[in-house]
Amino acid sequence: MRTPCHSMLRSILLAGAALGLAAPAFAVTPAKAPAHPWLDRKLSADARAQALVHAMTQDEKLQLVRTWFPPNATGKPGAPTDMIPSAGQMTGVPRLGIPTLRESDASLGVANQVEQRKGDVATALPASLATAASFDPEIAYAGGAMIGSEARAKRFNVLLAGGVNLTRDPWGGRNFEYLGEDPLLAGVLDGAHIRGVQSNHIISTIKHYVLNSQETGRMVADARIGWPALHESDLLAFKIAMEKGQPASVMCAYNLINGDYACENHELLTTTLRGDWGYKGFVMSDWGAVHSTVKAANAGLDQESGAELDKMLYFDAPLREALTKGAVSESRLDEMATRVLTGIIESGLYDNPAPATVQPIDYAAHALVAQKAAEEGIVLLRNEGGALPLAAHAKRIVLIGGHADVGVLSGGGSSQVRSVGGVPVEIPLKSGPAASFARTTWHSSSPLKAIQALAPGADVSYVDGSDPAAAAAAAKAADIAIVFATQWRTEAEDVPNLTLPDDQDALIDAVATANAKTVVVVESGGAVLMPWLEKVPAVLAAWYPGQRGGEAIANILFGKVNPSGRLPLTFPAAEAQAPRPAPVNLAAIKADDAASNAGSAGGGSAIFPIDYPEGANAGYRWYQAKGEKPLFPFGYGLSYTHFSYSHLKVTGGRTLTISFDVTNSGKHSGADVPQVYVTPADKQQPSRLAAFQRVTLKPGETRHVTLTAERRILSGWDARTRGWHLAGGRYTVALSRAVGDAVLTADTVLTDQRFRP
Ligand code: BGC
Repeated sequence: MRTPCHSMLRSILLAGAALGLAAPAFAVTPAKAPAHPWLDRKLSADARAQALVHAMTQDEKLQLVRTWFPPNATGKPGAPTDMIPSAGQMTGVPRLGIPTLRESDASLGVANQVEQRKGDVATALPASLATAASFDPEIAYAGGAMIGSEARAKRFNVLLAGGVNLTRDPWGGRNFEYLGEDPLLAGVLDGAHIRGVQSNHIISTIKHYVLNSQETGRMVADARIGWPALHESDLLAFKIAMEKGQPASVMCAYNLINGDYACENHELLTTTLRGDWGYKGFVMSDWGAVHSTVKAANAGLDQESGAELDKMLYFDAPLREALTKGAVSESRLDEMATRVLTGIIESGLYDNPAPATVQPIDYAAHALVAQKAAEEGIVLLRNEGGALPLAAHAKRIVLIGGHADVGVLSGGGSSQVRSVGGVPVEIPLKSGPAASFARTTWHSSSPLKAIQALAPGADVSYVDGSDPAAAAAAAKAADIAIVFATQWRTEAEDVPNLTLPDDQDALIDAVATANAKTVVVVESGGAVLMPWLEKVPAVLAAWYPGQRGGEAIANILFGKVNPSGRLPLTFPAAEAQAPRPAPVNLAAIKADDAASNAGSAGGGSAIFPIDYPEGANAGYRWYQAKGEKPLFPFGYGLSYTHFSYSHLKVTGGRTLTISFDVTNSGKHSGADVPQVYVTPADKQQPSRLAAFQRVTLKPGETRHVTLTAERRILSGWDARTRGWHLAGGRYTVALSRAVGDAVLTADTVLTDQRFRP
């Protein structure tokens, strides 16, 4: 393990001398000493951090390894007096230029779910699933850069963003906060998002490390999976995102993995993260996810977050005591502080402190970033007989349900943004684990107004859908009916099944029976079942489309924007197709202390196992392996134009390279996402997405695309050598529109190879 005195020995010692610290006998000539080596930007972040730590007292180091939870800490002895109501705050060390860390959630914008900062608003991006559906790293980057700039302007310097847990269960409560089920897609887009956030010289997390795949009992669930399978799936998504995004911090999850809590899991925090991956930033816990002092510190946890939410302040007095007794070494404390500081320096925060006062924000410009993300992420799932785009000459259009007169739905929990424009509808929860901190909230972005603006000559009206008979009558009297179906998801709870709640299936059925020209717009945090699918000509998956979702949906419906989203996760035809057809232990946890699920460790639920026998075959690979035909496969999405592929050329050897032409052979400009799936030619094995590229083309235009397959996607994790093994042999490459929908295929031979992580 690295100690503070290895690479930077010389300048650290000199720094100590400059500050009047006891100079060791072997110190080198003071004449060459830079006074404050941590200010030397030519040194590595790690080296500067080590120099800072050498200049710190133990009390100062201890300040860095815990953060306060402002709502509970206010007024507590020793608590900072300058806290912003938010997720967390770490006390800085002004004499050394170490900033106070102010932490806010999350990936969708600067969160403020219970309006802790009265009247404060921020720009709300669409759900991360929508960003994933764009298959566009530039959109992910732009969104990250935008929300990061708002965080900074609001004086936050840590954004708890970067959620990248793979969707293993279609009913996961937080699936909307993540980037789908595929490690390559999720990793590439999460990395771009994190890079965008950190382009503002603030810290982004990547979270929740790892396998926090269901919300039910998230604080007591013990995720059981083989380590190689974990490396080939969820860990791979983290690794790819970390390479691309360089997050300054990793947030460890609530759950246990193979018997140890994530935040005291040595295999994950030290062997994998520090050892295999050489990560130099810091590990912060999730809020209420710490269960020990000595075990957690020695396993690799560097910072206890929102410590007031844990059963005790593990990294406060108990850590002090453990240091006195030698149960945690001083060098480990140095290492913890060094990693926090490395993150602070590496992200640029140390050299570019966040402003001392709130700065103005260009909300109008930021709204356009949110709108573009929504427009690229909406997926056209069905379009029979060219039902869409809607004709500009439609005379009577009725919108039904989903509060489409005033807004669009958002997902709940710590990622909730109270967006610019206010909250037109907000429904408090009556009970359940999320009730203490989540409300069902709509953003003020009216599909009704947006559609009226695009169809000025038409009579566009709204009925709320609470009475299916009235809705059907209104649909009958209209040329076109558009049903806005909603499925709300939130942190801390899973949806019990994939059926649209509140009998919306019956509503859609009644409307479709009354009017054959019925379009369904689904606002959801993941897959839903669609028993009425054959009865309606057109369906859009709009996810939670963010604060300009109404405009984005209208633009897609009327063809001002050509839909280009592709599903980042499978929509199963029935829950029974999924690896686990329902949240594990739902009944038992519901009966238990709800608090155990809502961010405080005070619950009393017993630890229970969740087995992940699908291993690395998460998502579409599971469906392939089981021969199940889903409702809509991963990668699927339609366009108003048509794309064709030709001239596929594949070369093997050590690197798999794929080149081909994409032509827009239809009549509209649009974007396509050619996808490359690879599988060993001689084995019945599910295929994996090894490369993809979003391509925007005018009608008649052709683009030559060359892609390189991600090697790790083609490889297995060798636990013995702690490295990758790509088994040499023949592989089949399928250039596809979606998984299982190959347009062109070719075989090639790859060289047997082993490589480091
Ligand atoms: C969530 C994290 C979040 C933290 C701070 C936790 O409940 O799991 O994603 O960053 O709270 O709000």
